Amino acid sequence: MPLLFAILVLMTTSTSSSYSISLAPSKIPQLGMSSTKLKNTHDALTQKVDKSDLEIFYFNQDLDHFTFTPKSYMTFQQRYVIDSQHWAGAKVNAPILAFLGEESSLDSDLSAIGFLRDNGPRLKALLVYIEHRYYGKSMPFGSAEEALKNASTLGYLNSAQALADYAAILLHIKEKYSTKHSPIIVIGGSYGGMLAAWFRLKYPHIALGALASSAPLLYFEDTRPKFGYYYIVTKVIKETSEKCYNTICKSWKEIDRVAAKPNGLLILSQKFKTCGPLNGSSDIKDFLGTIYAEAVQYNRGPSYWVTSVCHAIDANPPTHKNDLLNRVFAGAVALIGNRTCYDTNMFSQPTNNSIAWRWQSCSEIVMPIGYDKQDTMFQLAPFNMTSFIEGCKSYYGVPPRPHWIMTYFGTQDIKLILKRFGSNIIFSNGLSDPYSVGGVLEDISDSIVAIKTKNGSHCQDISLKRKGDPEWLVMQREKEFKIIESWISMYQKDLRDLNILI
Ligand SMILES: *[C@@H]1O[C@H](CO)[C@@H](O)[C@H](O)[C@H]1NC(C)=O
Ligand SMILES: *[C@@H]1O[C@H](CO)[C@@H](O)[C@H](O)[C@H]1NC(C)=O
Ligand SMILES: *[C@@H]1O[C@H](CO)[C@@H](O)[C@H](O)[C@H]1NC(C)=O
Ligand SMILES: *[C@@H]1O[C@H](CO)[C@@H](O)[C@H](O)[C@H]1NC(C)=O
Ligand SMILES: *[C@@H]1O[C@H](CO)[C@@H](O)[C@H](O)[C@H]1NC(C)=O
Ligand SMILES: *[C@@H]1O[C@H](CO)[C@@H](O)[C@H](O)[C@H]1NC(C)=O
Repeated sequence: MPLLFAILVLMTTSTSSSYSISLAPSKIPQLGMSSTKLKNTHDALTQKVDKSDLEIFYFNQDLDHFTFTPKSYMTFQQRYVIDSQHWAGAKVNAPILAFLGEESSLDSDLSAIGFLRDNGPRLKALLVYIEHRYYGKSMPFGSAEEALKNASTLGYLNSAQALADYAAILLHIKEKYSTKHSPIIVIGGSYGGMLAAWFRLKYPHIALGALASSAPLLYFEDTRPKFGYYYIVTKVIKETSEKCYNTICKSWKEIDRVAAKPNGLLILSQKFKTCGPLNGSSDIKDFLGTIYAEAVQYNRGPSYWVTSVCHAIDANPPTHKNDLLNRVFAGAVALIGNRTCYDTNMFSQPTNNSIAWRWQSCSEIVMPIGYDKQDTMFQLAPFNMTSFIEGCKSYYGVPPRPHWIMTYFGTQDIKLILKRFGSNIIFSNGLSDPYSVGGVLEDISDSIVAIKTKNGSHCQDISLKRKGDPEWLVMQREKEFKIIESWISMYQKDLRDLNILI
């Protein structure tokens, strides 16, 4: 939920101002299964999810899987949840569907993920959900306050440790249910989708296959264009309404023009009904930029956010120049609702989750995303790796390692490498999700397949079913189910052919 984006605001108060300046060009939007700030305000569609069949457990997890120093023997309680009501049992090697948590509390995932509960009964599967270390209740060092303190404690928060956690818990569960040969399918979305794909590649003896939903695992270094994310944001808005796109294009200069007047910030503050005084026009511009990005990333029926925003912007006809601002403001109100005042920092307020993710994106998950010149409706602010690194270093005392993901997971030449090495991965992407730019969009082999939907948004395929879901989404989900079902049945056949006894 984590916006890297949030870094700029978060850090201004606590460190030197040079920090905020150096990170300012970074416009990296949040990852995450669903919008953290908007889901309850705008979409009145927050469903009630029956959680009565879920059992909560805590696993005594090693803090550090990779060294054998005395300190690494420290442990923490990692939360996982099991739903065993549909499981056909060890006797028939019934499968296990395991959701690998991402940068959020498991509580929010349990209310957002549909794929396991929808398909569990048909596969007679054991359903497992595991929380990511340093999120929710899975805190090392006794409390969030201690765990999130500084680089010395945060250093154990990284993807390799998280994958090892999942391996340990999944083996523990197999032992607990005495089921040596139940195949495990791992499922994740967004950053969790990367983890699912990486888990299949690093732990093939534990996971039979992976469903990686909206996983931008190629959005590292120079593998993908840095402008790609906002190129899609622009494209989706333009396709929704050319007029809306034109208004947004023109609005930035107008904001700057007004801001430059004597009392300009005060005028802007009144126009946008901000809760506090503005420090610069960028407060408003970043706020609006995030609104457009969120609206596109989580755009889905029945209340298509982009349509609402653009409808509001278009509905307000210009009579004189200032109306440009009224119109973009109306767009913001359409998304976040009618409020007495608007907190321009609402997307970047620090939470335990965002503090933990800030560390991850300032250490290894360094995604170079910026506003670049290619067909954009935004003012230019290209990603600057030098200043990004300086910013992280001045905050944590240690610099990021932007090359490590490529070294460790090797996503360069993914087609060439995975074709001969990997198998059983589904990469699913909605092409209207800006993060699809970093996704695997082409089939790699018979068993590493890309499922793309033109209209799909971020993680839509694994989210809860909704009334009136479009036909293509229903078909996409069914296709994913069929592929997973076929992996499991081939595996069951191998078990029989190899005469492996239970
Ligand atoms: C964040 O962590 C602090 C300190 O451990 C805790 O008191 C607080 O409840 C946590 N906040 C959330 C939203 O979980
Ligand atoms: C982190 O905080 C702990 C406890 O306050 C302290 O002992 C340690 O030196 C700090 N580490 C860094 C890198 O600042
Ligand atoms: C302006 O700066 C102050 C001090 O750094 C900060 O507390 C406030 O939140 C900022 N205002 C906005 C709208 O970001
Ligand atoms: C928003 O709230 C104000 C004050 O309560 C009200 O006058 C206005 O009509 C509301 N606008 C919408 C679009 O609901
Ligand atoms: C990137 O940031 C560095 C350090 O702040 C600065 O010296 C450099 O000019 C910037 N590069 C570009 C292309 O803006
Ligand atoms: C695609 O999304 C748009 C909203 O952006 C919606 O109006 C349209 O009906 C959708 N098309 C399909 C086939 O779902």
